[in-house]
Amino acid sequence: MKIKTLNQNKSSWNKVAHHFIGKDALPSYGPYTQTEDELKLFDEIKGKKVMDIGCGSGHSLKYMFEKGACELWGVDLSETQIKTASETLKDSLAHLYCSPMEQDIGLPKSYFDIVYSIYAIGWTTDLSSTLKLIHSYLKPGGSFIFSWDHPLYVHIKSQDGQLYLDGSYQDEGTIVYPNFKGEEAPMVIPKRKMSTYINELIKAGFTIDSVIESDVSASYDNKNEDITDRYYSLHKAKRFPTTMIIKAIKY
Ligand SMILES: C[S@@+](CC[C@H](N)C(=O)[O-])C[C@H]1O[C@@H](n2cnc3c(N)ncnc32)[C@H](O)[C@@H]1O
Repeated sequence: MKIKTLNQNKSSWNKVAHHFIGKDALPSYGPYTQTEDELKLFDEIKGKKVMDIGCGSGHSLKYMFEKGACELWGVDLSETQIKTASETLKDSLAHLYCSPMEQDIGLPKSYFDIVYSIYAIGWTTDLSSTLKLIHSYLKPGGSFIFSWDHPLYVHIKSQDGQLYLDGSYQDEGTIVYPNFKGEEAPMVIPKRKMSTYINELIKAGFTIDSVIESDVSASYDNKNEDITDRYYSLHKAKRFPTTMIIKAIKY
């Protein structure tokens, strides 16, 4: 666990949280990506105990509540996000904790049917410990489903609609964004290869059920594909997966 990075990111997340209310929340798995309605990875949610890792504004947990989950638990680094999540979930009894996902704060072990994380797991400063913790939270037979930026996506840049490879996919490490979301909010985001995620899941004891490199959701079928050089664009998403989604099981 890298305490300096976590403190920096926590203070920056408190500043930018307002940009992320209900963004990247279920049934969405990520920008332009097929939704849960299209992918159907969760099987039955009704009556299940679920935990959201990096629960943000609580909108994915709200989706779980509406689908009949019997217990809602969430962890997030930012107290601003946790405050918003408690408001989002005021009609349900959610257990919300402000903590880094990489820290063992005594959450119940072998207890959850489903642990999931929508666009948050890649923030961990210690993937190995985080996945081991998540594995420990699950009951045998329980599933872990997460989405995150496709690891190559950060290297696919666009100039006048032409896509090109920027930097090295081979180098793992971190990328520092001094002005995340245009705010004075420096963020440090780890950069890992696809194989690192898969191998760390296996090392933590998971069996991989599905690996999805996203395609564009059918809801964009009739949308204009404007040429823009934005980080996320329909033009780019039609040619390259924005998101990786992995479902893994604890047997
Ligand atoms: C894009 S948001 C996630 C949205 C959320 N999953 C949803 O469904 O609405 C990313 C979240 O990860 C949280 N985060 C960043 N680093 C974290 C860490 N090390 N541990 C726990 N949460 C973290 C941020 O505070 C932020 O709320």
